[in-house]
Amino acid sequence: MAIFVSPEEKLKQDKYISAVLSLVGGQGKKAFVYTLGCQQNEADSEKIMGLLLQMGYEKTDDEKEADILIVNTCAIREHAEKRALSIIGRFKHYKVARPDIVIGVCGCMTAQEHRANQLKHSYHYVDFTLGTGALHLLAELVLNALSKGKRRFLLDEETPKIAEGLLPVRESSFRAWVSIMYGCNNFCTYCIVPYVRGRERSRKMQDILDEIRELAKKGYREITLLGQNVNSYGKDLEDKPTIADLLNEIAKIEGDFIIHLMTSHPKDASREMIEAITKDKRTKSHFHLPLQSGSDAVLKRMNRHYDTQRYLDIIKELKSKNPDIVLTTDIIVGFPTETEEDFQKTLDIIKEVEFDTIYSFIYSPRKGTPAYSMEQISEDVKHERYERFCQVQNEIANKLNQKMQGKIYRVLVDGKSKGNEKMYTSRTEGNKIVHFECDTDHTGQFVNVKITRADTFNLFGEIIN
Ligand code: SAH
Ligand code: SF4
Ligand code: F3S
Repeated sequence: MAIFVSPEEKLKQDKYISAVLSLVGGQGKKAFVYTLGCQQNEADSEKIMGLLLQMGYEKTDDEKEADILIVNTCAIREHAEKRALSIIGRFKHYKVARPDIVIGVCGCMTAQEHRANQLKHSYHYVDFTLGTGALHLLAELVLNALSKGKRRFLLDEETPKIAEGLLPVRESSFRAWVSIMYGCNNFCTYCIVPYVRGRERSRKMQDILDEIRELAKKGYREITLLGQNVNSYGKDLEDKPTIADLLNEIAKIEGDFIIHLMTSHPKDASREMIEAITKDKRTKSHFHLPLQSGSDAVLKRMNRHYDTQRYLDIIKELKSKNPDIVLTTDIIVGFPTETEEDFQKTLDIIKEVEFDTIYSFIYSPRKGTPAYSMEQISEDVKHERYERFCQVQNEIANKLNQKMQGKIYRVLVDGKSKGNEKMYTSRTEGNKIVHFECDTDHTGQFVNVKITRADTFNLFGEIIN
């Protein structure tokens, strides 16, 4: 059963919000949120900012002037944690200069006991930590910090909750995140997420549809449905709706917007789901399906529950329904025990599928996960394989980009490119980045662009009226 914040708890937290409001409201106090990590964290940060505004703070993009600073952390790889710790370290200077400011750390990193302890003992100026399943408790922690209560370090409770009704302050007025579920049950052996975000919890279909209807009404042009494994949506809900059911309901909502799913797990990619995404023109252009490795032996040790044949069958089905579909994936290079032969199999499969974009990562050992104790391969070998991997993929990406030359695509305009007043950055419905020159600002709108030039990482085009 999914676990939702109860009306009583919500009422209690509303009182904390009012209490903070009476302390800080109307004084021009500023709030700054620094976000690391994936789209789920970006979505969470928008909700955190929403809560802070309700408490009477104003949003600022300048950390130096903030009266409350929140770092929303990620723990997916060592690099992400190092960055988080360095930013938290930087914030110390503000607290030294102005002891009244509040500093909170939330997100995935804080849900690990060793990190929570580290923050408690080595970062004395941090007022509180808060896990991702307890965002609704923010006001309580802020009030406690303002009234100089004891520092609070909330490890995620046993049962992280879903709080409906938190009003996000969306960063964009035309692209929106919509979480459809939280947490993960898959325990891929390399991954920290199930330990820091808890078990899968799905939002009720009606709540998701209401949010999307609202976004459509406001004219949003792109909606990304978020979840660690959106394909297992609904399994924990009473009436067991599937992702296909959800997509079929979304298809009935009118509006000129495109929809991305982030992320699908191949083991749960059902025929009905593929049918649903390829049926709606708003979902059919792009599909992100993490592969992780091209070796069945490695996939097994990763606990991924599919083999390369199954993966290729899904790709075949997607391509048969839409030959122009843009396919993207995630690959980990240098997983423990990966042999040169395993690695070659990864190169073979990426050459066979020809992904438009690959988000590739060098394996980073995560304390507490099974792969942490497996036989590690050396940093040198990992880096050397990663270099070779990028070379192969860059050639593929370049070839696919060249093929787009001369064709016309509908793109959603993101805004001006840096450094050139007339250049704009946009993305195709397949999520590929296109730069073009224009005298008029079409930010947030769809326009048609003809591709005139392409290299490995960029597409350039001209606007077609
Ligand atoms: N839930 C998503 C992925 C979330 S994390 C899914 O299952 O696809 C995003 C990506 O980070 C993963 O797909 C994986 O490629 C990468 N990743 C996760 N843990 C990692 C680790 N320990 N080292 C390197 N990359 C990792
Ligand atoms: Fe991590 Fe695997 Fe869950 Fe994705 S499905 S979040 S990679 S454990
Ligand atoms: Fe990082 Fe947590 Fe996302 S670990 S990648 S912010 S789910």
